[in-house]
Amino acid sequence: MGSAIYQREIWGLAARDWADLQEPMMISVYDDVLRRLGPGNMRSLLDAGCGSGVFCTRAVDHGWNVTGLDATPQLLDRARRRTSAVNFLEGDLEVLPITSQSLDVVTGFNAYQYAGDQRAALAEAHRVLSEEGQLVFVTWGDPAGSDATRHYERMIPFLPPRPADAPPVYAPWTKEDVGELVGSAGFVIQDYDVVQSHWLYRNTDHAVRALLSMGSAVRAASLVGLDIVTEATKDVVHDCLRADGRVLLTNEFVIVICTKRP
Ligand SMILES: C[S@@+](CC[C@H](N)C(=O)[O-])C[C@H]1O[C@@H](n2cnc3c(N)ncnc32)[C@H](O)[C@@H]1O
Repeated sequence: MGSAIYQREIWGLAARDWADLQEPMMISVYDDVLRRLGPGNMRSLLDAGCGSGVFCTRAVDHGWNVTGLDATPQLLDRARRRTSAVNFLEGDLEVLPITSQSLDVVTGFNAYQYAGDQRAALAEAHRVLSEEGQLVFVTWGDPAGSDATRHYERMIPFLPPRPADAPPVYAPWTKEDVGELVGSAGFVIQDYDVVQSHWLYRNTDHAVRALLSMGSAVRAASLVGLDIVTEATKDVVHDCLRADGRVLLTNEFVIVICTKRP
């Protein structure tokens, strides 16, 4: 196991709210990726860091033969309740329990940045993909383009200092930096695009509970207490409150589709 042991402690604590309230906020990005990939026609797809399986479920509906892998058992429980049509595996992005060159597509939505060694995790994706296989790497875009950045910035003072050699949380996102990262694992970029994702919550309670299920907030609450983290989260939510009582966070993500370097 690489970083999975540490990561699953964090993501497991608020798994229900993540599954019910937060993960579905990314549906427009999931559907965008499925459109770019075209019909599945029962080709094989691994969603690495699949969380509670919202993307996996949609991929099955688009005709893919889907495996989902995640480090967090509580999220996998939620995923298995969503669908029995996906083979959900507990495991580590850095050591995939999958035969070499056996898959057509590997997707990772906000997952690879949590691997202790991103390059090793991407090299594993490269190993399990067929020669014509595609990697879909989705991560945060420019921090200045995302309201969720404000929430993360409010969490930083509660979190331990990041080690000097840790990669920045919101990087890489430029085409050059992503190209360098995926290139180190043997991929070349076929398509790079910046998209917006609108996280629209029913009301302030919905938004606060959803944002408190994010890994940084869960970690912060375990260190300084839930009350303090809730107050900081409420400030951010208040700034994004609309006249109709709903809460809107507009965020930027990059979708990068890669192929194996010939
Ligand atoms: C931000 S969540 C994203 C979940 C899902 N892909 C989505 O779009 O909502 C990060 C996910 O990565 C998983 N994760 C983090 N590090 C991992 C690792 N080393 N191996 C496997 N899964 C990991 C966490 O358990 C969590 O489900």
